[in-house]
Amino acid sequence: MSAPVVPTTDRTPPWTPGAWRGYPAAQQPEWPDTGALEAALRTLSGHPPLVFAGEARALRAQLAEVAAGRAFLLQGGDCAETFAAFSADGIRDKLKVLLQMAVVLTYGAQLPVVKVGRIAGQFAKPRSRSTETVDGRTLPAYRGDAVNGLDFSEEARTPDPDRLVRVYHQSAATLNLLRAFTSGGFADLEKVHVWNQEFVAASPQGRRYAALADEITRALRFLVACGIDVAHHPAFRTVDFWTSHEALLLGYEEALTRRDSLTGDWYDCSAHMLWAGERTRDPDGAHVAFLAGVHNPVGVKLGPTSTPDEVAALALRLNPDGIPGRLTLITRMGAGAVADRLPALVGGVRDLGIPVVWSCDPMHGNTFTSDGGYKTRRLSDILEELRVFFAVHAQEGTVPGGVHVELTGENVTECLGGAHEIADLDLSTRYETACDPRLNNTQALELAFQMAEMLRGQGRAAV
Ligand code: PEP
Ligand code: CO
Repeated sequence: MSAPVVPTTDRTPPWTPGAWRGYPAAQQPEWPDTGALEAALRTLSGHPPLVFAGEARALRAQLAEVAAGRAFLLQGGDCAETFAAFSADGIRDKLKVLLQMAVVLTYGAQLPVVKVGRIAGQFAKPRSRSTETVDGRTLPAYRGDAVNGLDFSEEARTPDPDRLVRVYHQSAATLNLLRAFTSGGFADLEKVHVWNQEFVAASPQGRRYAALADEITRALRFLVACGIDVAHHPAFRTVDFWTSHEALLLGYEEALTRRDSLTGDWYDCSAHMLWAGERTRDPDGAHVAFLAGVHNPVGVKLGPTSTPDEVAALALRLNPDGIPGRLTLITRMGAGAVADRLPALVGGVRDLGIPVVWSCDPMHGNTFTSDGGYKTRRLSDILEELRVFFAVHAQEGTVPGGVHVELTGENVTECLGGAHEIADLDLSTRYETACDPRLNNTQALELAFQMAEMLRGQGRAAV
């Protein structure tokens, strides 16, 4: 591939937040009442932004460190947030598990960890089929609480645009609590023991975590003894915690897109980072056309059918100026396909010369339906995809920059395996996800410990 071509006389009209409307938009709901949709979007465009453009720029700078191999990206949260599971405890517990994982990675791999939640906006889901049939009755598929309800009834499944406004308010309240926790003392490194939840503490991972937390506490006491004011030093007192979601419902994203008064650039102020999903990553489609014009850091999911040409087209469209930290490519191949599919994509982008963050989503390529009828994933497959991801990057001379996972801070039984050896028969005990199966707290911690080892031993495993 040659270098990006810059036209000498650019006749394309300037990008606007609504320009995506001129492109084919996959996965958009069929809203029955377009007047009500327009009213909801008008309401949203008059509401304050949820994040500030300067924050999105700060995240981009941190992701540039990831692209260069000097930091690691940890992105995680629910597959789908819901109105029903909205609570302070739920938000706190998700933050706890992400902070625990980040500590394990920071300490284990001796790298700063960029922490990004799939939270405060992750309410819309792409679907493989637009309808669902149960006992001979066919209704629209559930597309996330931003669109319709999970109940299998005509009323619940009818898309309702008022839900978009509710998503905005729940996102604002979630973000408010996250900001309070991360700057108000909860994320203070001296609280490292507090993040270990009771039901996790008894597991091997919980004990391993407690031992690590002891070491950190001792190190902090040592710093205090040396005269360093740990209690007031911002590096120990606060953490940067960023929000992200799939930019699926383009009307919603458009309504929250604002021009930054400092730079004049457009930012999607619904979250710090947005990504296009596997089903909406068409380089000529509306989602990519939208993401191309906002200056947030953006991501694209890449499944096993992605071709090097498609990925090159995406990199040129989404990061034509080669800005480090602007584009994260999130590969989700499946443990069985990753060794075969990933090298050509990674090598192609490396040869193109456009800097990207390579992140691994080891969840979405490893989903299957168990004999008991549950949509699930094996922790062993998840770890295997990660292991091969690290090995491929070692082989290609590129940076394995991050991980993208679906998890929850609760003791759910949705994924198989892990220290509690969750089996098919156990899945019914606490299977609570509205969409895809999530790692529970103990499984997430196990993944962090294993990943810290992979990071330490980068490149030693075979593809
Ligand atoms: C998701 O992240 O929940 C998702 C739907 O992923 P993908 O687009 O990779 O299938
Ligand atoms: Co998912």
